[in-house]
Amino acid sequence: MSYSDEDYDLLQKAGKRHLWMHFSRHGVYDDAHDIPIITKGEGMYIWDAKGRKYLDALAGLFVVQAGHGREELAQAAAKQAKELSFFPIWTFAHPQAIQLAERIASYTPGDLNRVFFTTGGGEAVETAWKVAKQYFKLTGKPLKTKAISRQVAYHGTPHGALSITGIPALKEMFEPLVPSTVHVPNTNFYRADDHTGAAVTSWFSDGRGTDAATADDSHQPHPTLGSDLETFGRWAADQIEEAILAEGPDTVAAVFLEPVQNAGGCFPPPPGYFQRVREICDRHDVLLVSDEVICAFGRLGEMFGATKFGYVPDIITCAKGLTSGYSPLGAMIASDRVMEPFLEGTNSFAHGYTFGGHPVSAAVAMANLDIFEREDLNGNVRRNEGAFRSTIEKLLDLDIVGDIRGDGYFYGIELVKDKATKETFDDAESEKLLRGFLSKALFTNGLYCRADDRGDPVIQLAPPLIADQGHFEEMEQILRSVLTEAQNLL
Ligand SMILES: Cc1ncc(COP(=O)(O)O)c(C=O)c1O
Repeated sequence: MSYSDEDYDLLQKAGKRHLWMHFSRHGVYDDAHDIPIITKGEGMYIWDAKGRKYLDALAGLFVVQAGHGREELAQAAAKQAKELSFFPIWTFAHPQAIQLAERIASYTPGDLNRVFFTTGGGEAVETAWKVAKQYFKLTGKPLKTKAISRQVAYHGTPHGALSITGIPALKEMFEPLVPSTVHVPNTNFYRADDHTGAAVTSWFSDGRGTDAATADDSHQPHPTLGSDLETFGRWAADQIEEAILAEGPDTVAAVFLEPVQNAGGCFPPPPGYFQRVREICDRHDVLLVSDEVICAFGRLGEMFGATKFGYVPDIITCAKGLTSGYSPLGAMIASDRVMEPFLEGTNSFAHGYTFGGHPVSAAVAMANLDIFEREDLNGNVRRNEGAFRSTIEKLLDLDIVGDIRGDGYFYGIELVKDKATKETFDDAESEKLLRGFLSKALFTNGLYCRADDRGDPVIQLAPPLIADQGHFEEMEQILRSVLTEAQNLL
């Protein structure tokens, strides 16, 4: 829907005055700089309030798997709202939550059969940590409370999930956070040679609260870290064991890992990485949480990323693609073993959300999963992922493109100052490049994607799962023209 000039101005004025946008610098919106306002979506495309069309190369925010404007998902929501618009799942249930839980369990690897609904991903991660802590309290290991995760990984914004997040810049303003998180190296093979190998506790970003055992940089870089992917993967997995041992295995409850880490720009796991992590977790009785808020529901061509990489976690957290974003919903899925102590006697998990498992969202999720099956969205990703990769890999001929990595319909393009040395941009250059130029230029040229500098500067691509070769080529062409301009600016 496109607005008249007058209505558009009113909307901008109201937005600038009243809307508090997420993760946004409000100071940049003044009379000369408008808020981008999106009004309509159809298939792979979105339109703004001025009627301009953009290719959605990020599925909204890794969400709109089935594409925009699906009549049947809107109908499913309307039908359910009429039938039963709301009821909580606090000691009660409704058919939509039950049927969806059963269906999700049918897709999970192993015996992950118990589904706790939330309204989003951060709540699912928060829930998983609380479940892990209580699980060990109920099974006679009450000191097992700590969470291990990876550097530069994003796991959400509630205090617990933010503590697990490994991006200091997102945490500083909110300290003190929840203590007891430890961050280990991620699987960024492109930068493998840079690793000091230090696992760090980070409940204060300036080092206060750091446990002496892990502050000690005792993990030495492996001599061939950057030259062999499997060696690097084994080293990265072993850092988790080092951290467990340094903290004390009887104090560690869970390890939180994404199948493919998003923040930092799509780090896939090296071969054998998750198998090694699974062994380590088993050895030390630590729960393995697969944070699949992005990776579940087709992003990697399977319902769950764990299936793609052949491991069985104890807990999966998911959200986003479960409803393709037509209504908010998230979930924490636990194995039978994790659920077992919660089934005994009068035990209960004192945790919940008013809107968790909302009947409208659950009905939409069922309809969304119908589309997944009928249109074989996972199969579409598997059939086309090679073409997606090879089309965007053409960009490697540009000097500014250092690395292209990812899996399925989920890619990061790392930008570098010097391709030969892999030298990255300093903060000021990155600011100028990403925020000053790229984000705006890509959008103006008709591509909605994300320029991200939570780690080294990257452009992230995660289109709806209906994307085909024509869309890949459109992405490549717009990126090529804008990145060529960007490298001429440097
Ligand atoms: C891996 C991961 N975990 C958790 C979250 C938080 O999800 P939400 O924004 O739905 O709270 C995100 C969000 O992008 C995520 O990517």
